[in-house]
Amino acid sequence: MIYITDFSKIRNDFPILKRKVNGKQLVYLDNAATTQKPRQVIDRITDYYMNHNANIHRGIHKLSEEATEEYEGARERTAKFISASAREIIFTKNTTESLNILAYWALRTLGKGDEVVVSVMEHHSNIVPWQMLVEKGITLKIAGIKKDGSLDMDHLNKLVTKKTKIVSIAHASNVLGTINPIKEIAKLAHDAGALMIVDGAQSVPHMPVDVKNLDVDFLAFSSHKMLGPTGIGVLFGKEELLKKATPFLRGGDMIKEVFQQTATWNEIPWKFEAGTPNIADVIGFGAAIDYLNKIGMKNIREHEIELTKYAMKKLGAMKGVTLHGTAKDKGGAVSFSIDGVHPHDTATILDSEGIAIRSGHLCAQPLMERLGVPAVGRASFYVYNTKGEVDKLVAGVEKVKKTFKVI
Ligand SMILES: Cc1ncc(COP(=O)(O)O)c(C=O)c1O
Repeated sequence: MIYITDFSKIRNDFPILKRKVNGKQLVYLDNAATTQKPRQVIDRITDYYMNHNANIHRGIHKLSEEATEEYEGARERTAKFISASAREIIFTKNTTESLNILAYWALRTLGKGDEVVVSVMEHHSNIVPWQMLVEKGITLKIAGIKKDGSLDMDHLNKLVTKKTKIVSIAHASNVLGTINPIKEIAKLAHDAGALMIVDGAQSVPHMPVDVKNLDVDFLAFSSHKMLGPTGIGVLFGKEELLKKATPFLRGGDMIKEVFQQTATWNEIPWKFEAGTPNIADVIGFGAAIDYLNKIGMKNIREHEIELTKYAMKKLGAMKGVTLHGTAKDKGGAVSFSIDGVHPHDTATILDSEGIAIRSGHLCAQPLMERLGVPAVGRASFYVYNTKGEVDKLVAGVEKVKKTFKVI
């Protein structure tokens, strides 16, 4: 494999990065929310609609065969990307839907006295679905964090007991950037007889992830956070677990045989993909995976470590700026507060400079409560970002400080 490691050349593949915003060159630092798309992904989707469009798995005709081949090819590439088999990859709408499917499954199979453990740093998508179980008498336990934003492993160890049926933790926090020791947590869960579910929305796009090595039972992630189109999520599940699981959505394509009162199910993974899927965007997602593979996930991780360290050093040295999340093992999300300035004001001033960051509770209200802030500002990096853009962010933060007279 020949990797493209000249990160400055990568930018040319992203048409949107040439855009001006408020008269300034766009500096896109909201990658944890969603990422920009390279021409290769956009072209692949256009090519599909212009030359191959048909429904999959059904037609005997040429177009349907081509569409099926491309769709299933994307599944194979997705599986390889995380060291799984194609039978273990279910296409969903997004990470949120993937986690909801698991929570609905748990709702059917767990009962009073069972326990589910998550952490306080979870995105709402990995808390709110599990709250459904509380209504059924299942206990939801929340592991805490330490001062630097790392997971409190001692607390987690205490919470996981023989009553625990599911441990569901983010691989990387979208607010703190913390990368959690999933392999260790999976062992803890399995030793207690529980399933290990991982929210990989902020890890799979940014670092090599190997489900076999981590030994996780389920992993959820989203195409749009890794250069792919919106509307595609992935749910990985171990083959033996998927075979046992009851499908949540029912209808066309997920059945083997249908009788008047009952039906039998298709093989995995198709028994979980009812109805016509989002064919074009799955194919586009396949092109995004090809693109990431060309750069190499290890190279992407190294590039982001460099940008993150640089940003944290510069922002951390500024008076009146507080960084949230300083754990040793960290992904490319840098959250911060400026004394006496609401993060929405920070984001508005940065936007006037063409700089896009996220501000608010970042879909992590329990974490905001733990940090003692109503909201934060967050810059998050990806393959096309540069140190020069970090410098622009720092200059923008200086402007915010000046505007609000923060000394
Ligand atoms: C850690 C984490 N989990 C889950 C999600 C939800 O992803 P989606 O909106 O694609 O379902 C996000 C989105 O920001 C996230 O950062």
